[in-house]
Amino acid sequence: MKTQKHLMFGQAKAVIVILLIAIGLYWSGGVLPVRADQDKVNKQLYMKKATYVGMDTCAQCHDKEYKEYKLSTHARIFVKNDTTGAEGCEICHGPGSIHVDNGGGIGVGIINPKKDPEICFTCHTDKKMQFRLPYHHPVLEGKMSCTDCHDAHGIDVAPWTATSENGVNEVCFKCHTDKRGPFIWAHDALKEGCTTCHQVHGSVNDKMLIARDYNLCLRCHATVSFPFMGDSNHVGQWQSATCWSQNCHQAVHGSNFSQHLRY
Ligand code: HEC
Ligand code: HEC
Ligand code: HEC
Ligand code: HEC
Ligand code: HEC
Ligand code: HEC
Ligand code: HEC
Repeated sequence: MKTQKHLMFGQAKAVIVILLIAIGLYWSGGVLPVRADQDKVNKQLYMKKATYVGMDTCAQCHDKEYKEYKLSTHARIFVKNDTTGAEGCEICHGPGSIHVDNGGGIGVGIINPKKDPEICFTCHTDKKMQFRLPYHHPVLEGKMSCTDCHDAHGIDVAPWTATSENGVNEVCFKCHTDKRGPFIWAHDALKEGCTTCHQVHGSVNDKMLIARDYNLCLRCHATVSFPFMGDSNHVGQWQSATCWSQNCHQAVHGSNFSQHLRY
């Protein structure tokens, strides 16, 4: 009798545990992939029905974008999507016939990659992998888009990066304002661009760094004059910590207090 009661209690506990797991799955996003799949299916259905109309048709209503696009890398290299055969505007916006037949409009039969980068990944498959690395800008999470850093249409861009004309850094300062300075002691490394130290799509290293240890700094400081290079104590410190750890060069982006970028 006692064991049976015990068993029933055990079963009840098991049921509760299973219920909790089910609820947990539900909340942790177990349902989200289903919803995302549904979106994909809807999009595919629409993509199937719509046909390509060509860039000249788009130009009739979007003269501004048409002119801007001619300045872009994508236009200059005549990208044609090998899978779909799309050209021009429709490589990024999808087949436009439904949009055009309805006289255009927001959300009318056309893809806006600002809301969903999936169409960019049809060609830039490697970028999707980068955004899946442990430390990344939250693009796949929908909190940011490629267009926060890239101007796909081609106005105000530096060649081959599609970022700001005034260099890559300008684009970063839009959000990371504290890195702009001016600092009394600036770090010359920043002149080379934020991307000399950061892999901005994504990285296996914390803070999206290119390297997780002193190699990040030694790429330049093995040759650039380094006043403490001969100090054996300094060499010892590399082995126990990174160059930017506490009590070392914490102010790696520039400092108003320490010439040696300590704090
Ligand atoms: C008959 C005129 C017309 C044609 C042709 C046309 N559009 Fe549009 N489109 C519009 C209008 C109107 C809007 C609404 C926004 C606006 O007023 O700019 C719009 C909006 C858009 C948007 C934003 C949609 C959104 O949900 O954010 C995109 C992208 C777009 N068009 C791309 C294209 C492309 C690519 C083509 C060619 C395949 C095209 N359009 C052809 C009239 C047109
Ligand atoms: C390389 C990809 C790419 C190509 C090619 C491209 N676009 Fe776009 N387009 C985008 C992205 C990304 C956005 C979202 C930009 C944003 O709102 O920040 C966009 C936005 C738009 C919008 C909405 C603008 C707004 O203010 O909301 C229109 C209209 C548009 N594109 C038309 C065109 C036309 C017309 C062409 C061809 C002449 C074209 N695009 C070619 C990527 C592209
Ligand atoms: C946080 C800003 C940022 C975001 C968001 C971003 N990029 Fe970039 N991307 C850059 C910078 C900066 C470079 C230039 C890298 C360099 O100079 O080394 C670049 C370079 C590129 C290049 C050319 C160089 C290469 O690595 O092949 C491509 C293609 C590209 N990005 C695609 C994308 C796509 C697609 C998305 C969205 C899914 C995206 N990027 C989102 C900042 C960004
Ligand atoms: C039809 C294929 C295709 C699509 C779709 C496409 N790209 Fe590209 N893109 C290319 C090719 C090819 C290059 C040149 C080679 C390279 O740098 O990878 C390029 C270059 C780039 C570059 C770097 C060169 C520069 O100066 O522009 C960026 C940034 C970029 N693409 C972003 C995007 C974004 C964002 C989208 C989606 C809105 C997108 N691409 C959609 C094929 C494509
Ligand atoms: C549109 C805004 C925006 C732009 C533009 C932008 N970032 Fe970011 N950045 C973010 C957000 C949001 C995060 C994620 C913060 C988080 O996860 O807490 C982030 C995170 C980072 C991190 C990691 C921070 C940490 O504490 O782990 C680095 C490094 C970084 N960004 C560098 C850059 C560089 C370099 C550029 C220019 C190529 C850039 N960002 C452009 C919004 C932006
Ligand atoms: C000389 C290499 C180097 C350069 C160049 C560089 N960073 Fe960093 N960055 C670092 C290091 C190292 C860290 C980690 C600091 C830490 O963990 O305390 C970091 C951390 C960050 C962080 C997250 C922590 C914080 O301080 O907010 C952001 C955001 C960031 N960098 C943005 C930028 C931007 C924007 C640029 C270009 C203006 C840039 N970085 C240029 C080395 C660099
Ligand atoms: C792209 C090359 C480059 C990289 C990478 C780089 N630096 Fe520098 N750094 C410089 C240059 C150039 C100077 C200025 C010349 C000088 O003072 O020797 C400088 C100066 C410094 C100074 C001031 C020198 C002094 O008098 O104390 C410190 C500290 C410093 N860097 C630390 C770092 C750290 C830490 C890292 C890694 C997170 C790093 N640097 C990565 C190029 C670089």
